[in-house]
Amino acid sequence: MQELQKMKEEYIEDEDYNYEPFADTEEYKRVNSECINNWVAIMKQKGINGLEGVLDVATGAGTMVQLVFDNFPESWRKAAVLCLDQSAGALKLAQSKLEKTVETLKLVHSSIQDMTLPDNSVDIAVWGNGIHYLSAADQLECVKRIRKALKPGGFLFFNTAFYEEARPAETLPFYRTQVKTAVQYLRDNGVKRVKSDEKTEAAKFLPRSYYESLVEDAGFKLVDAKEFAVDMHKEAWEYISAFQQYAAGALRGYPIDDAVNAMRDSVGPSIELHGNRDQNGEPYITRKWLAISAQA
Ligand SMILES: C[S@@+](CC[C@H](N)C(=O)[O-])C[C@H]1O[C@@H](n2cnc3c(N)ncnc32)[C@H](O)[C@@H]1O
Repeated sequence: MQELQKMKEEYIEDEDYNYEPFADTEEYKRVNSECINNWVAIMKQKGINGLEGVLDVATGAGTMVQLVFDNFPESWRKAAVLCLDQSAGALKLAQSKLEKTVETLKLVHSSIQDMTLPDNSVDIAVWGNGIHYLSAADQLECVKRIRKALKPGGFLFFNTAFYEEARPAETLPFYRTQVKTAVQYLRDNGVKRVKSDEKTEAAKFLPRSYYESLVEDAGFKLVDAKEFAVDMHKEAWEYISAFQQYAAGALRGYPIDDAVNAMRDSVGPSIELHGNRDQNGEPYITRKWLAISAQA
């Protein structure tokens, strides 16, 4: 247990950010499970009855692999898994979390842009919550590269909550109030913008139609595109807002630690003001996830 905690700390230091608390929330696990359930159903419909090799792109703490295996029929759980991430710390953490679940686990320490896997070597590739970090040109290049690594007829599945339709129009006042409140908090604390940097990739919300075309442009057949809505409560918003890349995308140019604190502390008043109420009277804001299935 202490060892796992140490690895988590190393991952956070190594990456200088912390995504894992958000990935551990019920909301995150539920919506990603729904995406994965849909992907498994598609494979069954297409007559797949077993898998040898699974490539997990941008593994992070291994959440997607865990959920994929939880949703796999028993006979598919023999599949070998290749976990690819540019963070060595993430891979170490994923390994420790997945060793009970996955019999044959291989770690690939590489960016997806530099991935070199043999052609026709895996049955499916899963890319959870990570494609939006790349520029459009890199996305196309990488999706093509994944296609080459897949066996003929293999599947690519990916999802993202950072696309144009992810934030329904009626939820936009929440985001505006959160950023306005955060900027006020920074001003009140005398924190100034240090640089006006490029828009981070995560802040670019490309439309669903773009992702549908992307897979076709890379030579895949688009099998399915589905959106899943999830009602996210205060704690989940606090965790995602404290994720450094999220805070940096929302408050560009501010020192990152201040941006994180400001974004996290602004969730409470913003969700109180704009949230819908669940049956317990707790406020929530709905976010959408796009899940794409494509066949080589
Ligand atoms: C938001 S986490 C997603 C983790 C996991 N797939 C999930 O869905 O929960 C993003 C992960 O992508 C990795 N990552 C970001 N850009 C990458 C790239 N270009 N190549 C490989 N990994 C990347 C980061 O190191 C991080 O571990």
